[in-house]
Amino acid sequence: MTSELSPIDKAKFVAAKQATDYVKSGMKVGLGTGSTAAWLVQCLGEMVREEGLKIKGVPTSSRTAKLAQDVGIDVITLDEARWLDVTIDGTDEYDADLNLIKGGGGAHLQEKIVATASDRMIVIADASKKVDTLGAFPLPVEIIPFGARTTQALVEETLVGMDVLGREVTLRKAGDTPFVTDEGNHILDLNLKRIGNPRQLSLMLNQIPGVVENGLFLDICDTVIVGHGDGRVTVRDIEDDGGAEIHFNVLDDTNIFADLQD
Ligand code: A5P
Repeated sequence: MTSELSPIDKAKFVAAKQATDYVKSGMKVGLGTGSTAAWLVQCLGEMVREEGLKIKGVPTSSRTAKLAQDVGIDVITLDEARWLDVTIDGTDEYDADLNLIKGGGGAHLQEKIVATASDRMIVIADASKKVDTLGAFPLPVEIIPFGARTTQALVEETLVGMDVLGREVTLRKAGDTPFVTDEGNHILDLNLKRIGNPRQLSLMLNQIPGVVENGLFLDICDTVIVGHGDGRVTVRDIEDDGGAEIHFNVLDDTNIFADLQD
């Protein structure tokens, strides 16, 4: 069964597995959303069930909350936790400064709130998420449904003055109707191709009244753990001088794929 994992799933899995090293008993842990974060939640669940790991998990979406409960993690709200030791989440893009685009799964609002309320944010990813300049992945912007068309027009107008390559804005759909977030909001996807000044763009977007939050995570991520299809893991930490890379070969130590369950 383990041999059926695609290289990309192996990459996501080894990144998630490596990230569990940062989680210790007694910690309050932010649990990200998406396919990579789902591996993490499953790994942590296994450690709770089989190794006696004691953690409180704060999920960043209803999807993650359900998965965390299903695998045996003690789930609490952010208000109950107040502050977290670490948040571990996936990403849609990261650059050399460990700035991110998130929200491809529509959960960036809760993800940003939870990551910002954490001593440390660790991103787990496969190598395809690395970019020289943010923006190839469409930037998600969560907006309230009231006056959504007006908000979209204001977003489009704002983009005219921004250092971006593309300016196409689309309302995310789920079938024939607008996608609805856990907060009951909608999402605009901004096809910008290249974001020259992410800080300026983030500030300008968040000044529009109907905008709740954009998917740029700037100066929030501390560490990126990149998994590779052959089991190698690369760790980049913002604290390292110039962002040194440390390479681990997770498969050297243990045949982790053999631990995977159906
Ligand atoms: C959820 O809204 C996103 O921010 C995800 O964290 C991001 O899309 C990464 O997802 P994958 O791990 O599935 O690529």
